[in-house]
Amino acid sequence: MIVHIINKKRLGKELSYHELDVFFNGYLEGKVKDYQMSSLLMAICINGMSEEEIFSLTKIFIDSGDVLDLSFLSDVVVDKHSTGGIGDKTTLIIAPIVASLGIPILKMSGRGLGYTGGTIDKLESIPGYRIDLSDEEVMKQVEDIGIVITGQTASLAPMDKVIYALRDVTGTVSSVPLIAVSIMSKKIAGGADKILIDIKVGNGALLQTRKEAEELSNLVKKIGQIYQREVETIISDMNVPLGYCIGNSLEVMEAIRILKGEEVGNNLTQLCLELATKLVCMARGVPVQDAQDMVLQSIQSGSAYQKFLELVKAQHGDIEKISVSKKVKIIKAEISGVVKDISAIRLGELSVSLGAGRISKEDGIDYGVGIELLKQVGDTVKKGEGIAKVYYTKSFHLQEFHDIFLIK
Ligand code: URA
Repeated sequence: MIVHIINKKRLGKELSYHELDVFFNGYLEGKVKDYQMSSLLMAICINGMSEEEIFSLTKIFIDSGDVLDLSFLSDVVVDKHSTGGIGDKTTLIIAPIVASLGIPILKMSGRGLGYTGGTIDKLESIPGYRIDLSDEEVMKQVEDIGIVITGQTASLAPMDKVIYALRDVTGTVSSVPLIAVSIMSKKIAGGADKILIDIKVGNGALLQTRKEAEELSNLVKKIGQIYQREVETIISDMNVPLGYCIGNSLEVMEAIRILKGEEVGNNLTQLCLELATKLVCMARGVPVQDAQDMVLQSIQSGSAYQKFLELVKAQHGDIEKISVSKKVKIIKAEISGVVKDISAIRLGELSVSLGAGRISKEDGIDYGVGIELLKQVGDTVKKGEGIAKVYYTKSFHLQEFHDIFLIK
């Protein structure tokens, strides 16, 4: 039966609910092996899935665990998700903004996938920060302080957790159907009423074309309808990294600067404002301009940053203890000119090679390493001037880092 199912998908045929159920639940029970699941996932990547298959698999993922019932809260609960990018620390910024405006936000995040970083890895760079809250703790915290950012609790869509880890190391991440199933099973199980999904496109994203992003957008909305959840999407660029920092502690520190209103005008700040504004519109039904004013006010008044501190404290983190590696090397421009491009994908790959992400699913993370850009696209540079800082703990070849930048 198992090999028959793999062969059927290899030939591009449609799998029934029963076949998907037997295969995926068999994997969860240990009857289907890693190599068999990897093979099926690769066949799905290559041959795709019909809508019927995608809806069936989403149901199987949701049914593998519990669905949080948040109806005891009197307000609508929002959630946001990004398909992942380089330097994408938007959750760390948007969630406190929205919560500081009295809109409850419950966010269950993932670890890094491929060369894209994960919010949970970033938060774990804050010493003590707990990412393993139970369902009860999640519900109490969202009621008490209106914000939770935790790892997926063990009881919600456990199927996604195991499949996600396997996809990460088997080259089966970039599949629109698998991404739709993964995201929506977690979002439905997480219980939020209104869900915003930031779909990234570009060389540093899981999806490379606008067409794929639109396909994903349609799918997540259709799945939302089935479960009576309002789903909105934003398709955003991931050809250049978001902000200046890549690496876990570095990214938390950059998020803090934005929450304090210290960095305005860069692509990360702009995207965060757009996403937070959209969430406020969805939750409160107010016009865009009013929502944007509320968002800006929450930063300027310091209430967004206070909410971030409240979140970290509630989850036992000690923000004073966050640190980056003391070993730093500067990449210097080899010629004078203008920065024409910064390759998000190279930044992702090189930060993983420094230890900021995982190569195999058992790998640990070196939280204090990463890359800080000193220049952005459009900046002029002089030969010999510093263009990026590399925070490292183990030896590496600085020369390899030069191809991040295109200077002309
Ligand atoms: N984010 C997810 O949660 N799942 C994916 O498969 C990709 C991005």
